[in-house]
Amino acid sequence: MTLKEYRSFFTESLLTIYPKTEIETFLYLLIEEYLGLNRIEFAIQPNYEIKEEKIQLLNKGLERLKKEEPIQYIMGHTEFFGYSFIVNKNTLIPRPETEELVAWVLNEIEKPTLHQRKINYILDIGTGSGCIPISIAKENKNTNLTAIDISEEALKTAQKNAKKNKVTIQFTKANILTEAKLDKQYDIIISNPPYVRNLEKKEIKNNVLLNEPHLALFVENKNPLIFYDKIADLAKQYLTKKGKLFFEINQYLGEETKQLLIRKGFNNIELRKDIFKNDRMIKATL
Ligand SMILES: C[S@@+](CC[C@H](N)C(=O)[O-])C[C@H]1O[C@@H](n2cnc3c(N)ncnc32)[C@H](O)[C@@H]1O
Repeated sequence: MTLKEYRSFFTESLLTIYPKTEIETFLYLLIEEYLGLNRIEFAIQPNYEIKEEKIQLLNKGLERLKKEEPIQYIMGHTEFFGYSFIVNKNTLIPRPETEELVAWVLNEIEKPTLHQRKINYILDIGTGSGCIPISIAKENKNTNLTAIDISEEALKTAQKNAKKNKVTIQFTKANILTEAKLDKQYDIIISNPPYVRNLEKKEIKNNVLLNEPHLALFVENKNPLIFYDKIADLAKQYLTKKGKLFFEINQYLGEETKQLLIRKGFNNIELRKDIFKNDRMIKATL
């Protein structure tokens, strides 16, 4: 079968589930993944004969797409902050909003002076694929990073990602909701914790709802800020004097999250929107 023929077959097979532009993107990604051809090479070689074994691989991907599995899980990796991360059903797929949070944190890390090169101790709570601490470690060498998750499987993947990206992170398995202490004082504490209320499930697309770990996403309707509450309490005790707390937040709960931090006695609270103009992240200091 030629590339041109496969394109028609692939598009036809998915048209009832996805828009055409998305199907094109899936095809380009799978062709690059399995055939090693980029978009331009694809476009200029419509009569390229695809080997039978490669068709088998592409068809396996196609079957998984029909079941609305995310393309990132099918390929087994994704890009975040320009770096490659292994992802699987135990790890949330890193989102572009979280890249904005990482950019904000990087901007706020204390810069070395002429006389002093300070190491910034940073903790990421609910690390998933490890995308946040690994990107920070890649971008800023004056950092020492620790990352916590409750999921052993997520931590195994995060560890592989640290190795793949050649950085050192201390990974710890812990349930942050029951931890009374942290291991040390931190200059920066970051978290993108579970924050989607069960009542918001109806807004969530099937590819997320049926595939991504619910442990990473959902919280009870009646206590949606449970993680923020607990992490803010720990941050009060374990942030250094000039320390900073960063959260990714539920877009519908920006004001509530801000009020929670005010009640806990935090200062300089700054709520920021993501590129889609939704309240998405917050920073506070002691
Ligand atoms: C929204 S995901 C964020 C993943 C990653 N930091 C990112 O931004 O893509 C939340 C993460 O918190 C972890 N988590 C859920 N409950 C937890 C708990 N009680 N203690 C520690 N981590 C928890 C999940 O396993 C998941 O990896």
